[in-house]
Amino acid sequence: MDDSDLQTVPLDESFLETVAYHDREFQHYAIENGVYFAPVDEDEAEHLRNMHDIFNRMFEHRLIFPPIPQLRRVLECGFGSASWAVEVAERYPDCEVTGIDIFPNMAPEIIPDNLVLQVDDLNRPSTFPSNHFDLVHSRWMAGGINSDGWRNYMADIFRVLRPGGWCQMVEIYFNAQSDNGTLTDNNALRIWSREYIRSLQALKDPRAALQLQNWMRDAGFVEVEAQVLTLPLSGWPSDPRERSIGIANRDNVHRLLTSLALYPFTERLGMSSAEVQLLVARARVEANNPAFKAYFPVYVCIGRKPGGGASSRGHHHHHRSNRGVDSRKRARR
Ligand SMILES: C[S@@+](CC[C@H](N)C(=O)[O-])C[C@H]1O[C@@H](n2cnc3c(N)ncnc32)[C@H](O)[C@@H]1O
Repeated sequence: MDDSDLQTVPLDESFLETVAYHDREFQHYAIENGVYFAPVDEDEAEHLRNMHDIFNRMFEHRLIFPPIPQLRRVLECGFGSASWAVEVAERYPDCEVTGIDIFPNMAPEIIPDNLVLQVDDLNRPSTFPSNHFDLVHSRWMAGGINSDGWRNYMADIFRVLRPGGWCQMVEIYFNAQSDNGTLTDNNALRIWSREYIRSLQALKDPRAALQLQNWMRDAGFVEVEAQVLTLPLSGWPSDPRERSIGIANRDNVHRLLTSLALYPFTERLGMSSAEVQLLVARARVEANNPAFKAYFPVYVCIGRKPGGGASSRGHHHHHRSNRGVDSRKRARR
């Protein structure tokens, strides 16, 4: 190998490089380019797998919300641990599932034959052909899409969907809430939330969850439906199903409070890692305290690209009202 070879590092190699901060591994590309600030180590991969399990429980094990009679091509934006993509590929063996992520190494080494994982940055224009996918799925991506990039992101999704195809988005609003008035601005969960939003808002849109349906409509989607669910931070709900979600979520919450905040709080806000640990420890105690009834709002939004033959009314609509997001409506506490 001579010098000229060394200068041409293949693109994919550069995406695999990691960099350590405070004992966690981050993707060098993502940090250098201000793309994404959560770790990408095995601990995070496990956390993403656990969160997928929590999402599955919240959504009653439905991976896909809109009615799609024949699923042939699906795009997963930001596959992470690839849990969702793998499950879709397994459940729909005749469907070709494509996943995109800037960092491919949190996915398992062995994946179904009908799943293809590719490395790309979703802040760049999509290279997929127009009118191609039946469904594009994007979940928990607000930490990685640039704040001024959401409209292009939506427009790209709209373009690559076939007429009549669906977009399904899920975002957690990382702003801890309680509906019983116990959580005040001085509580660690509120401080964590404020600082998290502050640390990212120059680059990302930590409130993207609230905008999904506006952006979908603006991009041209029709039959846009949005729903807000609550993700309890511990086992405080009285409803048994919600309670089991909260219990399953307890350990997750601790990991999440650390992994989302570690880099932004230390490197962007200038806190020490000890300060971050202390704040997270206090926030965790509050999350576990049933008196606070703390939760993160989770926004679910689906929308259809017009056209494609199937009318938006009649048979199609009937189908939807039985199986769409609506049927899972739950009261917010
Ligand atoms: C919080 S994880 C969510 C993973 C998965 N969507 C889920 O719901 O479990 C975010 C993922 O998006 C990836 N990501 C972040 N920004 C990205 C970007 N601009 N382009 C492609 N992938 C990105 C990260 O590498 C990470 O795997």
